[in-house]
Amino acid sequence: MEMNWNCGSRHGHERQTPVRFRFSLIQRNRSILGVAALTLLTLAHASAQDSTIRAVQNIFDPLSAPAEILYRISLLVLATCAIIFLVVAGLLTYAIIRYRRKGGADDLEEPPQVYGSAAIELAWTVPPILIVVVLVLVTARTIGEIQKPKLPNDAEQVRIIGHRFWWEVRYPKYDVVTADEIHVPLSDRSKRIATEFVLESADVIHGFWVPQLNGKTMLVPNHTNTMWVEPYKTGIYLGNCTVLCGAQHANMLIRVVVDTPERYQQWLNEQKATPADDQSVEEGKRQFIANSCGACHDIGGTNAKGVFGPDLTHFASRQTLGSGVAANNEENLRSWLQDPQVLKPGCLMPNMKLGDKQLQSILAYLRTLK
Ligand code: CUA
Repeated sequence: MEMNWNCGSRHGHERQTPVRFRFSLIQRNRSILGVAALTLLTLAHASAQDSTIRAVQNIFDPLSAPAEILYRISLLVLATCAIIFLVVAGLLTYAIIRYRRKGGADDLEEPPQVYGSAAIELAWTVPPILIVVVLVLVTARTIGEIQKPKLPNDAEQVRIIGHRFWWEVRYPKYDVVTADEIHVPLSDRSKRIATEFVLESADVIHGFWVPQLNGKTMLVPNHTNTMWVEPYKTGIYLGNCTVLCGAQHANMLIRVVVDTPERYQQWLNEQKATPADDQSVEEGKRQFIANSCGACHDIGGTNAKGVFGPDLTHFASRQTLGSGVAANNEENLRSWLQDPQVLKPGCLMPNMKLGDKQLQSILAYLRTLK
């Protein structure tokens, strides 16, 4: 079992687009064969998913438009504060050294009694006011840019609903429902592709934060918040729930998968399709329904229509289970079906007390839901 599945450090290197290779290929042999190879290469590249893990959990390595805006203003504020600190600390140090006690005679003499100096009073009131005014104006502009963005008309929209302790993910335009892993298309600085997140909560307050994509936004019951992302690099971005929401708050992990637009469309098409009917796991499907799993979970094309737990229509296509608590492999899924409280103590799925045969057949069935 792998714990901390979501929190692993960066591994692997980002795949380089083989553009240069493609061009040199054409230059050397402009034959039909070359063009065919190029087409195949492009197709292969479009369908491959970049599995680079982007796990930076701070604001200093932004890879998305709103995160960059926040990064720039944070540098301005930090630089301003650093200059103020240096000036104040410098004057203080100078005063401490220059006017320190000079022997016993110093105690007998009173320092010069100076009352009021217009120049000094102006010096310590006007510049601070100006600094605060500038920071207020810049901050107000940034809040406007972040909260009321001018998104392109064809911006994608994803509805994300926080549950204890997982994320429901809906793509209303495409009638796609999934959980915990949010796929969004890659943007480009010259041709923007923005994705708007509509954030809601089904129970308590949760917090959505993927630092390399945007700042934190709360998911509040009976209230809708929005945020947007415009990522500049493909890969898997990691984030966390940032508001204490219960026992498994720390394992309510977020994965945002940034795909090339082609790969994103391909993923949407795969998710829209009903999973192929596999006769060899018919018994598992029967057991799934018979054990009331469908009261909480939805599986497209079956009678399982529950909405309380994550949609499992394409469960096997996800990389993790339990909202990032463990890798989605056979061993972990078996443990989960035996007793979800082992991998995720305090999660709302109870131990279903499945018999060995039931467990084995349901396990085999769920593994086919690609
Ligand atoms: Cu959801 Cu913490």
